[in-house]
Amino acid sequence: MNFLVTGGAGFIGSAVCRHLCANPAYRVTNLDKLTYAGNLASLRPIENAHNYSFAQADICDERAVLDLLRRHDIDIVMNLAAESHVDRSIDGPGAFIETNIVGTYKILNAALEYWRSLSDDRKSRFRFHHVSTDEVFGDLPFEGGMFVEETPYAPSSPYSASKAASDHLVRAWHETYGLPVVLSNCSNNYGPYHFPEKLIPLVILNALDEKPLPVYGAGANVRDWLFVEDHARALELVATKGHPGESYNVGGNSERTNLAVVETICDLLDARRPRARGRRYRELISFVTDRPGHDRRYAIDATKIGRELGWTPRENFDSGLARTVDWFLDNEWWWGPIREQRYAGERLGEARKVGA
Ligand code: NAD
Ligand code: DAU
Repeated sequence: MNFLVTGGAGFIGSAVCRHLCANPAYRVTNLDKLTYAGNLASLRPIENAHNYSFAQADICDERAVLDLLRRHDIDIVMNLAAESHVDRSIDGPGAFIETNIVGTYKILNAALEYWRSLSDDRKSRFRFHHVSTDEVFGDLPFEGGMFVEETPYAPSSPYSASKAASDHLVRAWHETYGLPVVLSNCSNNYGPYHFPEKLIPLVILNALDEKPLPVYGAGANVRDWLFVEDHARALELVATKGHPGESYNVGGNSERTNLAVVETICDLLDARRPRARGRRYRELISFVTDRPGHDRRYAIDATKIGRELGWTPRENFDSGLARTVDWFLDNEWWWGPIREQRYAGERLGEARKVGA
Protein backbone atom coordinates (compact mmCIF):
# COMPACT_ATOMS: atom_id res chain seq x y z
CA MET A 1 0.00 0.00 0.00
CA ASN A 2 1.43 3.37 -1.04
CA PHE A 3 0.98 6.40 1.22
CA LEU A 4 1.52 10.08 0.51
CA VAL A 5 1.97 11.83 3.89
CA THR A 6 1.91 15.63 3.65
CA GLY A 7 3.59 17.61 6.43
CA GLY A 8 5.68 14.56 7.23
CA ALA A 9 8.61 16.67 8.46
CA GLY A 10 6.46 18.16 11.23
CA PHE A 11 5.74 16.88 14.72
CA ILE A 12 2.81 14.51 14.05
CA GLY A 13 3.62 13.85 10.39
CA SER A 14 7.11 12.59 11.25
CA ALA A 15 5.62 10.27 13.91
CA VAL A 16 3.20 8.97 11.25
CA CYS A 17 6.06 8.37 8.78
CA ARG A 18 8.16 6.58 11.42
CA HIS A 19 5.14 4.46 12.41
CA LEU A 20 4.08 3.53 8.86
CA CYS A 21 7.62 2.69 7.73
CA ALA A 22 7.83 -0.01 10.41
CA ASN A 23 5.42 -2.00 8.22
CA PRO A 24 7.35 -3.47 5.25
CA ALA A 25 4.09 -3.81 3.28
CA TYR A 26 3.79 0.00 3.19
CA ARG A 27 5.66 2.51 1.02
CA VAL A 28 5.69 6.07 2.34
CA THR A 29 6.31 9.28 0.38
CA ASN A 30 6.68 12.34 2.59
CA LEU A 31 5.72 15.64 0.90
CA ASP A 32 6.73 18.70 2.92
CA LYS A 33 7.46 22.35 2.11
CA LEU A 34 9.94 22.56 5.01
CA THR A 35 8.62 25.71 6.66
CA TYR A 36 10.09 26.85 9.99
CA ALA A 37 8.25 23.88 11.57
CA GLY A 38 9.54 21.24 9.16
CA ASN A 39 12.67 19.35 10.16
CA LEU A 40 14.23 16.46 8.30
CA ALA A 41 16.18 15.56 11.45
CA SER A 42 12.88 14.16 12.79
CA LEU A 43 13.03 11.52 10.04
CA ARG A 44 16.56 10.39 10.89
CA PRO A 45 15.38 6.96 12.21
CA ILE A 46 13.90 6.11 8.78
CA GLU A 47 15.83 8.27 6.32
CA ASN A 48 17.58 5.22 4.82
CA ALA A 49 14.61 2.85 5.01
CA HIS A 50 13.86 1.07 1.71
CA ASN A 51 10.16 2.05 1.92
CA TYR A 52 10.62 5.80 2.62
CA SER A 53 11.20 8.76 0.31
CA PHE A 54 11.02 12.54 0.69
CA ALA A 55 9.91 15.25 -1.73
CA GLN A 56 10.12 18.95 -0.94
CA ALA A 57 6.90 20.52 -2.28
CA ASP A 58 4.04 22.83 -1.36
CA ILE A 59 0.47 21.47 -1.10
CA CYS A 60 -0.61 24.71 -2.83
CA ASP A 61 1.27 23.44 -5.94
CA GLU A 62 -1.44 21.29 -7.52
CA ARG A 63 0.76 20.05 -10.38
CA ALA A 64 3.57 18.98 -8.06
CA VAL A 65 1.11 17.05 -5.89
CA LEU A 66 -0.50 15.38 -8.92
CA ASP A 67 2.92 14.41 -10.22
CA LEU A 68 3.80 12.74 -6.89
CA LEU A 69 0.45 10.93 -6.74
CA ARG A 70 1.11 9.44 -10.20
CA ARG A 71 4.81 8.78 -9.79
CA HIS A 72 4.36 6.89 -6.51
CA ASP A 73 1.09 5.18 -7.47
CA ILE A 74 -0.56 6.44 -4.28
CA ASP A 75 -3.41 4.54 -2.59
CA ILE A 76 -3.83 6.75 0.50
CA VAL A 77 -3.19 10.47 1.03
CA MET A 78 -2.79 11.57 4.65
CA ASN A 79 -2.98 15.36 4.72
CA LEU A 80 -1.15 16.74 7.76
CA ALA A 81 0.54 19.73 6.10
CA ALA A 82 -0.63 22.86 7.90
CA GLU A 83 0.29 25.95 9.81
CA SER A 84 -0.43 24.61 13.30
CA HIS A 85 0.37 27.19 16.00
CA VAL A 86 -2.54 29.24 17.39
CA ASP A 87 -0.29 32.07 18.63
CA ARG A 88 1.32 32.51 15.18
CA SER A 89 -2.16 32.61 13.63
CA ILE A 90 -2.99 35.57 15.90
CA ASP A 91 0.14 37.46 14.77
CA GLY A 92 -0.17 36.57 11.06
CA PRO A 93 -3.27 34.76 9.80
CA GLY A 94 -2.26 34.98 6.09
CA ALA A 95 -0.11 31.85 6.01
CA PHE A 96 -2.93 29.91 7.71
CA ILE A 97 -5.44 30.95 5.06
CA GLU A 98 -2.94 30.09 2.31
CA THR A 99 -1.81 26.64 3.46
CA ASN A 100 -4.75 25.40 5.51
CA ILE A 101 -7.57 26.58 3.23
CA VAL A 102 -6.12 27.22 -0.25
CA GLY A 103 -3.62 24.36 0.16
CA THR A 104 -6.36 21.91 1.12
CA TYR A 105 -8.41 23.06 -1.88
CA LYS A 106 -5.43 22.51 -4.20
CA ILE A 107 -4.54 19.08 -2.87
CA LEU A 108 -8.22 18.02 -3.05
CA ASN A 109 -8.26 19.02 -6.72
CA ALA A 110 -5.07 17.06 -7.40
CA ALA A 111 -6.45 14.03 -5.54
CA LEU A 112 -9.74 14.21 -7.46
CA GLU A 113 -8.02 14.35 -10.87
CA TYR A 114 -5.79 11.42 -9.90
CA TRP A 115 -8.68 9.39 -8.38
CA ARG A 116 -10.79 9.81 -11.53
CA SER A 117 -7.99 8.24 -13.60
CA LEU A 118 -7.84 5.05 -11.49
CA SER A 119 -9.44 1.68 -12.27
CA ASP A 120 -12.73 0.95 -10.46
CA ASP A 121 -10.96 -1.37 -8.04
CA ARG A 122 -8.24 1.18 -7.20
CA LYS A 123 -10.88 3.92 -7.01
CA SER A 124 -12.83 2.07 -4.33
CA ARG A 125 -9.69 1.50 -2.24
CA PHE A 126 -8.34 5.06 -2.53
CA ARG A 127 -8.65 7.32 0.54
CA PHE A 128 -8.04 11.02 1.18
CA HIS A 129 -7.52 11.33 4.93
CA HIS A 130 -7.67 14.88 6.27
CA VAL A 131 -6.06 15.31 9.70
CA SER A 132 -7.83 17.93 11.75
CA THR A 133 -8.19 19.21 15.26
CA ASP A 134 -10.66 19.36 18.16
CA GLU A 135 -10.22 23.17 18.09
CA VAL A 136 -12.77 23.39 15.24
CA PHE A 137 -15.48 22.70 17.85
CA GLY A 138 -14.50 25.79 19.86
CA ASP A 139 -14.85 26.59 23.51
CA LEU A 140 -16.24 24.21 26.19
CA PRO A 141 -17.25 25.43 29.67
CA PHE A 142 -15.10 24.30 32.61
CA GLU A 143 -18.09 22.58 34.18
CA GLY A 144 -18.62 19.82 31.61
CA GLY A 145 -19.47 18.66 28.10
CA MET A 146 -17.43 16.80 25.49
CA PHE A 147 -16.94 17.07 21.74
CA VAL A 148 -18.62 14.32 19.71
CA GLU A 149 -18.38 13.97 15.94
CA GLU A 150 -21.74 15.78 15.52
CA THR A 151 -20.80 18.82 17.67
CA PRO A 152 -21.35 21.96 15.54
CA TYR A 153 -18.21 23.80 14.46
CA ALA A 154 -17.52 27.07 16.35
CA PRO A 155 -13.83 27.92 15.91
CA SER A 156 -12.32 30.81 17.92
CA SER A 157 -8.86 31.50 16.45
CA PRO A 158 -7.64 32.19 12.91
CA TYR A 159 -5.92 28.78 13.14
CA SER A 160 -9.04 26.83 14.12
CA ALA A 161 -11.20 28.81 11.67
CA SER A 162 -8.81 27.87 8.85
CA LYS A 163 -8.89 24.20 9.91
CA ALA A 164 -12.71 24.29 10.10
CA ALA A 165 -12.83 25.72 6.57
CA SER A 166 -10.54 22.95 5.33
CA ASP A 167 -12.73 20.27 6.94
CA HIS A 168 -15.77 21.71 5.17
CA LEU A 169 -13.96 21.63 1.81
CA VAL A 170 -12.98 17.98 2.34
CA ARG A 171 -16.59 17.00 3.11
CA ALA A 172 -17.82 18.96 0.07
CA TRP A 173 -15.39 17.09 -2.23
CA HIS A 174 -16.92 13.85 -0.92
CA GLU A 175 -20.57 14.91 -1.20
CA THR A 176 -20.22 16.67 -4.56
CA TYR A 177 -17.57 14.69 -6.44
CA GLY A 178 -17.62 11.35 -4.60
CA LEU A 179 -13.96 11.53 -3.50
CA PRO A 180 -13.55 8.87 -0.76
CA VAL A 181 -12.48 11.01 2.18
CA VAL A 182 -12.09 10.33 5.90
CA LEU A 183 -11.45 12.92 8.61
CA SER A 184 -10.12 12.83 12.14
CA ASN A 185 -10.24 15.52 14.84
CA CYS A 186 -7.70 15.11 17.60
CA SER A 187 -6.87 16.79 20.90
CA ASN A 188 -3.46 18.18 22.00
CA ASN A 189 -0.54 15.92 21.12
CA TYR A 190 2.77 15.82 22.97
CA GLY A 191 5.92 13.70 22.76
CA PRO A 192 9.35 13.50 21.09
CA TYR A 193 10.26 15.88 18.21
CA HIS A 194 7.65 18.47 19.33
CA PHE A 195 8.55 21.94 18.02
CA PRO A 196 9.39 24.10 21.07
CA GLU A 197 6.82 26.83 20.41
CA LYS A 198 4.09 24.62 21.95
CA LEU A 199 3.47 24.57 25.71
CA ILE A 200 5.11 21.30 26.78
CA PRO A 201 8.43 21.46 24.88
CA LEU A 202 8.69 25.24 25.49
CA VAL A 203 8.39 24.74 29.24
CA ILE A 204 10.90 21.86 29.30
CA LEU A 205 13.52 23.84 27.37
CA ASN A 206 12.93 27.17 29.14
CA ALA A 207 13.32 25.35 32.46
CA LEU A 208 16.62 23.80 31.37
CA ASP A 209 17.77 27.31 30.32
CA GLU A 210 16.64 28.76 33.71
CA LYS A 211 14.20 31.05 31.86
CA PRO A 212 10.65 32.03 32.96
CA LEU A 213 7.93 29.44 32.27
CA PRO A 214 5.09 31.48 30.69
CA VAL A 215 1.59 30.47 31.82
CA TYR A 216 -1.21 32.36 30.05
CA GLY A 217 -3.79 33.97 32.37
CA ALA A 218 -4.23 32.00 35.56
CA GLY A 219 -3.26 28.67 33.96
CA ALA A 220 -6.82 27.40 34.46
CA ASN A 221 -7.52 26.52 30.81
CA VAL A 222 -7.93 22.80 30.24
CA ARG A 223 -6.59 20.69 27.38
CA ASP A 224 -6.89 16.94 26.71
CA TRP A 225 -3.46 15.43 26.06
CA LEU A 226 -2.57 12.49 23.79
CA PHE A 227 0.88 10.93 23.29
CA VAL A 228 1.83 11.45 19.64
CA GLU A 229 2.56 7.75 18.94
CA ASP A 230 -0.97 6.87 20.04
CA HIS A 231 -2.25 9.46 17.56
CA ALA A 232 -0.10 7.96 14.78
CA ARG A 233 -1.69 4.52 15.41
CA ALA A 234 -5.15 6.09 15.35
CA LEU A 235 -4.39 7.85 12.07
CA GLU A 236 -3.25 4.61 10.41
CA LEU A 237 -6.55 2.99 11.44
CA VAL A 238 -8.67 5.89 10.19
CA ALA A 239 -6.78 6.01 6.87
CA THR A 240 -6.89 2.26 6.21
CA LYS A 241 -10.16 1.19 7.89
CA GLY A 242 -12.24 4.38 8.22
CA HIS A 243 -15.55 4.58 6.39
CA PRO A 244 -15.65 7.11 3.49
CA GLY A 245 -17.42 10.34 4.42
CA GLU A 246 -16.99 9.73 8.16
CA SER A 247 -15.03 11.63 10.78
CA TYR A 248 -13.49 10.21 13.95
CA ASN A 249 -12.68 12.05 17.17
CA VAL A 250 -9.35 11.08 18.76
CA GLY A 251 -8.41 11.97 22.34
CA GLY A 252 -6.35 10.88 25.30
CA ASN A 253 -8.97 11.08 28.06
CA SER A 254 -6.36 13.09 29.96
CA GLU A 255 -7.71 16.53 30.82
CA ARG A 256 -5.34 18.79 32.73
CA THR A 257 -5.19 22.51 33.50
CA ASN A 258 -2.20 24.21 31.92
CA LEU A 259 -0.84 25.02 35.38
CA ALA A 260 -1.01 21.34 36.39
CA VAL A 261 0.90 20.38 33.21
CA VAL A 262 3.62 22.96 33.88
CA GLU A 263 3.94 21.96 37.54
CA THR A 264 4.24 18.28 36.63
CA ILE A 265 7.04 19.08 34.16
CA CYS A 266 8.80 21.05 36.91
CA ASP A 267 8.57 18.11 39.32
CA LEU A 268 9.87 15.64 36.70
CA LEU A 269 12.86 17.93 36.07
CA ASP A 270 13.50 18.38 39.80
CA ALA A 271 13.96 14.61 40.02
CA ARG A 272 16.09 14.29 36.89
CA ARG A 273 18.15 17.49 36.57
CA PRO A 274 18.04 19.26 40.00
CA ARG A 275 18.72 23.00 40.01
CA ALA A 276 21.60 24.49 41.98
CA ARG A 277 21.23 25.36 45.69
CA GLY A 278 18.06 23.28 46.20
CA ARG A 279 15.87 25.57 44.11
CA ARG A 280 12.72 24.16 42.52
CA TYR A 281 11.75 24.58 38.86
CA ARG A 282 8.27 25.75 39.99
CA GLU A 283 9.94 29.01 41.08
CA LEU A 284 10.38 29.82 37.37
CA ILE A 285 6.62 29.82 36.66
CA SER A 286 5.52 33.23 35.41
CA PHE A 287 1.87 34.21 34.86
CA VAL A 288 1.63 36.36 31.70
CA THR A 289 -1.16 38.11 29.77
CA ASP A 290 -3.73 35.71 28.39
CA ARG A 291 -4.00 34.54 24.77
CA PRO A 292 -6.76 36.56 23.00
CA GLY A 293 -9.80 34.37 22.29
CA HIS A 294 -8.37 31.65 24.53
CA ASP A 295 -10.70 28.62 24.52
CA ARG A 296 -11.33 27.55 28.11
CA ARG A 297 -11.53 23.83 27.72
CA TYR A 298 -11.35 21.01 25.16
CA ALA A 299 -12.57 17.46 25.86
CA ILE A 300 -12.96 14.65 23.35
CA ASP A 301 -15.40 11.77 23.38
CA ALA A 302 -13.42 9.10 21.49
CA THR A 303 -16.07 6.36 21.78
CA LYS A 304 -16.63 6.04 18.03
CA ILE A 305 -13.03 5.29 17.02
CA GLY A 306 -12.81 2.78 19.89
CA ARG A 307 -16.04 1.04 18.96
CA GLU A 308 -15.65 1.05 15.17
CA LEU A 309 -11.89 0.82 14.63
CA GLY A 310 -10.72 -0.77 17.91
CA TRP A 311 -8.39 2.11 18.91
CA THR A 312 -7.43 2.98 22.48
CA PRO A 313 -4.43 5.00 23.72
CA ARG A 314 -1.58 2.93 25.18
CA GLU A 315 0.21 5.73 27.05
CA ASN A 316 -1.28 7.54 30.04
CA PHE A 317 -0.39 11.20 30.64
CA ASP A 318 2.01 10.60 33.54
CA SER A 319 4.05 7.92 31.76
CA GLY A 320 3.93 9.81 28.44
CA LEU A 321 5.06 13.08 29.99
CA ALA A 322 7.95 11.36 31.78
CA ARG A 323 9.01 9.76 28.47
CA THR A 324 8.81 13.16 26.79
CA VAL A 325 10.91 14.93 29.42
CA ASP A 326 13.50 12.12 29.20
CA TRP A 327 13.56 12.40 25.40
CA PHE A 328 14.26 16.14 25.53
CA LEU A 329 17.00 15.60 28.13
CA ASP A 330 18.66 13.02 25.84
CA ASN A 331 18.24 14.74 22.47
CA GLU A 332 19.77 18.19 22.54
CA TRP A 333 21.22 17.42 19.05
CA TRP A 334 17.61 17.79 17.79
CA TRP A 335 16.35 20.85 19.70
CA GLY A 336 19.62 22.79 20.18
CA PRO A 337 19.79 24.05 16.56
CA ILE A 338 16.06 24.91 16.58
CA ARG A 339 16.39 27.06 19.72
CA GLU A 340 19.52 28.72 18.30
CA GLN A 341 18.44 29.30 14.71
CA ARG A 342 14.65 29.13 14.38
CA TYR A 343 12.81 30.00 17.58
CA ALA A 344 14.35 30.90 20.93
CA GLY A 345 11.11 30.96 22.95
CA GLU A 346 9.95 34.59 22.74
CA ARG A 347 6.27 35.39 23.40
CA LEU A 348 3.98 35.06 20.37
CA GLY A 349 0.31 35.90 19.80
CA GLU A 350 -0.40 38.89 22.00
CA ALA A 351 -2.35 40.50 19.13
CA ARG A 352 -0.63 43.87 19.49
CA LYS A 353 -0.41 44.13 15.73
CA VAL A 354 -1.88 41.76 13.13
CA GLY A 355 0.48 41.04 10.24
CA ALA A 356 -0.18 39.50 6.86
P1 NAD B 1 3.71 21.05 12.65
O1 NAD B 1 3.60 22.53 12.59
O2 NAD B 1 4.67 20.43 13.60
O3 NAD B 1 4.06 20.49 11.20
C1 NAD B 1 3.47 20.96 10.03
C2 NAD B 1 4.30 20.48 8.83
O4 NAD B 1 3.64 20.91 7.64
C3 NAD B 1 5.71 21.05 8.79
O5 NAD B 1 6.64 20.03 8.51
C4 NAD B 1 5.66 22.07 7.65
O6 NAD B 1 6.90 22.21 6.98
C5 NAD B 1 4.61 21.45 6.74
N1 NAD B 1 3.94 22.44 5.89
C6 NAD B 1 3.43 23.65 6.27
N2 NAD B 1 2.91 24.27 5.21
C7 NAD B 1 3.05 23.43 4.14
C8 NAD B 1 2.68 23.49 2.76
N3 NAD B 1 2.07 24.57 2.26
N4 NAD B 1 2.98 22.46 1.97
C9 NAD B 1 3.62 21.37 2.46
N5 NAD B 1 4.01 21.26 3.74
C10 NAD B 1 3.72 22.27 4.57
O7 NAD B 1 2.23 20.52 12.90
P2 NAD B 1 1.74 19.26 13.74
O8 NAD B 1 1.57 19.65 15.14
O9 NAD B 1 2.57 18.08 13.39
O10 NAD B 1 0.26 19.09 13.14
C11 NAD B 1 0.05 18.31 11.96
C12 NAD B 1 -1.42 18.32 11.60
O11 NAD B 1 -2.19 17.80 12.69
C13 NAD B 1 -1.98 19.73 11.35
O12 NAD B 1 -2.90 19.65 10.30
C14 NAD B 1 -2.68 20.09 12.65
O13 NAD B 1 -3.75 20.99 12.41
C15 NAD B 1 -3.18 18.74 13.10
N6 NAD B 1 -3.33 18.57 14.57
C16 NAD B 1 -2.32 18.89 15.42
C17 NAD B 1 -2.46 18.65 16.79
C18 NAD B 1 -1.35 18.96 17.78
O14 NAD B 1 -1.57 18.86 18.99
N7 NAD B 1 -0.16 19.32 17.36
C19 NAD B 1 -3.64 18.09 17.28
C20 NAD B 1 -4.67 17.79 16.37
C21 NAD B 1 -4.48 18.02 15.01
O1 DAU C 1 -6.23 20.83 20.48
C1 DAU C 1 -5.42 20.51 19.38
C2 DAU C 1 -4.48 21.66 19.12
O2 DAU C 1 -3.49 21.63 20.13
C3 DAU C 1 -3.84 21.58 17.72
O3 DAU C 1 -4.82 21.70 16.74
C4 DAU C 1 -2.79 22.68 17.56
O4 DAU C 1 -2.12 22.51 16.31
C5 DAU C 1 -1.78 22.56 18.69
O5 DAU C 1 -0.84 23.61 18.60
C6 DAU C 1 -2.49 22.62 20.04
O6 DAU C 1 -3.09 23.93 20.25
P1 DAU C 1 -3.02 24.68 21.68
O7 DAU C 1 -3.19 26.11 21.44
O8 DAU C 1 -3.91 24.01 22.66
O9 DAU C 1 -1.48 24.30 22.08
P2 DAU C 1 -0.34 25.19 22.77
O10 DAU C 1 0.76 24.24 23.13
O11 DAU C 1 0.00 26.39 21.99
O12 DAU C 1 -1.05 25.66 24.12
C7 DAU C 1 -1.56 24.73 25.06
C8 DAU C 1 -2.22 25.53 26.18
O13 DAU C 1 -1.19 26.19 26.92
C9 DAU C 1 -3.14 26.61 25.68
O14 DAU C 1 -4.25 26.71 26.58
C10 DAU C 1 -2.31 27.88 25.76
C11 DAU C 1 -1.35 27.61 26.90
N1 DAU C 1 0.00 28.18 26.77
C12 DAU C 1 0.68 28.02 25.61
C13 DAU C 1 1.97 28.51 25.45
C14 DAU C 1 2.72 28.36 24.16
C15 DAU C 1 0.58 28.83 27.87
O15 DAU C 1 -0.05 28.94 28.95
N2 DAU C 1 1.85 29.32 27.72
C16 DAU C 1 2.56 29.20 26.57
O16 DAU C 1 3.71 29.71 26.49
